Amino acid sequence: MASNPFTPSFGVSPPLLVGRDAELEAVAESLDGGPGSPARATLFTGVRGCGKTALLNAVEDLARNRGWLVVSETVRPGVAQRIADTHLTALLAQHTDEAVRRRLTQASASVFGVGGGVTRHHEDRHPVAASLRSRLDELTEAIAPRGSGVLISLDEVHRSAITDLRELAHTVQHAFREGREVALVAAGLPSAVTDLLNDDVLTFLRRAERFTLGKVPASDVARALREPIESSGRAIGDDALSLAVEGTQRYPFLVQLVGFHSWRADPGSTEVTAEHVREGIERSVRRVGHLVHEPALSSLSAVDKSFLAAMAVDDGPSAMGVIAQRLGVDATYASQYRLRLIAAELIEPVGHGKVDFTLPYVRDYLREHAATEALGPL
Ligand SMILES: Nc1ncnc2c1ncn2[C@@H]1O[C@H](COP(=O)(O)OP(=O)(O)OP(=O)(O)O)[C@@H](O)[C@H]1O
Ligand SMILES: [Mg+2]
Repeated sequence: MASNPFTPSFGVSPPLLVGRDAELEAVAESLDGGPGSPARATLFTGVRGCGKTALLNAVEDLARNRGWLVVSETVRPGVAQRIADTHLTALLAQHTDEAVRRRLTQASASVFGVGGGVTRHHEDRHPVAASLRSRLDELTEAIAPRGSGVLISLDEVHRSAITDLRELAHTVQHAFREGREVALVAAGLPSAVTDLLNDDVLTFLRRAERFTLGKVPASDVARALREPIESSGRAIGDDALSLAVEGTQRYPFLVQLVGFHSWRADPGSTEVTAEHVREGIERSVRRVGHLVHEPALSSLSAVDKSFLAAMAVDDGPSAMGVIAQRLGVDATYASQYRLRLIAAELIEPVGHGKVDFTLPYVRDYLREHAATEALGPL
């Protein structure tokens, strides 16, 4: 029996990545286009499970296939130092000869105190950037003859590591200015990214090419489901496939969940049937509720939850006036909660005076779990 091809876990690359051609092409063009190409600094943003990490993985593969060296990290405090001391040092050991390495060790010793020299003042303010920079300079010089460069990939950018991001931005910006073969690609949740772009030290990131990863087109979802099923030796009919596509709501995480649970309904049969898909969707909706909605809702205040519960009464987008009425509050009060929930990425404005849930199946989750308890008096 063939094993299940789908990957319903965060951070794991799917069997077939779909709907991200524009993003991949932009990065590919920028690597080939030389220093100064627009997407040499690129930022991906989007809600939980939209495929930021999967896309970063694909970008890293694309860079490696072009002979580029890749430094891949998740942003945490201390990440700049880790890139300087661990990643760049290891890459230098692989790609430079002994003489260069010795010169480099001496150079970074002077950066860290004993030395001094004319650039001392600058290095004092950016001690990590100084070692990042000297290592990145050596590395890019060592690999320049073979026409390759260094891609720095940063996942989960977040304000908690703002100092590191400043050091990294500073270094990469400098490398760009010197015409080095360096590229930076980063990803984060919309609220985290907005937070950072408001920091004027990160003007550099604000100028990066920005892509918001949204839902994937239905035809792509169909391919992402059919091809892995077929290449693992089973079939899926057109009706079952349309049902599955519908069930995913074109949300990448659900593409993997629905594929996985539909396959799993009867792994021994030669075909994934509509019945399997129905069972698969039901399980997937429960999983996404448990893995995504439950944690997102748990940190909300009682009023926030009441607002969402009041929305869940509607089958589609909700009018703000109606929500205020259901909650028994005035429009100004309701609009404050609207803003908070938009900032928390749980709801989004759709058309004039209306809001809708950002993620699929939140409505169903609330109807099943929270609606009755949350709709108490404010
Ligand atoms: N373009 C895509 N096509 C098919 N499946 C995808 C695609 N992008 C992501 N997936 C799948 O969706 C799931 C979630 O993807 P990923 O972990 O990259 O999301 P994320 O945006 O990084 O989430 P988080 O905000 O939690 O870090 C994974 O199982 C991944 O394999
Ligand atoms: Mg991720």
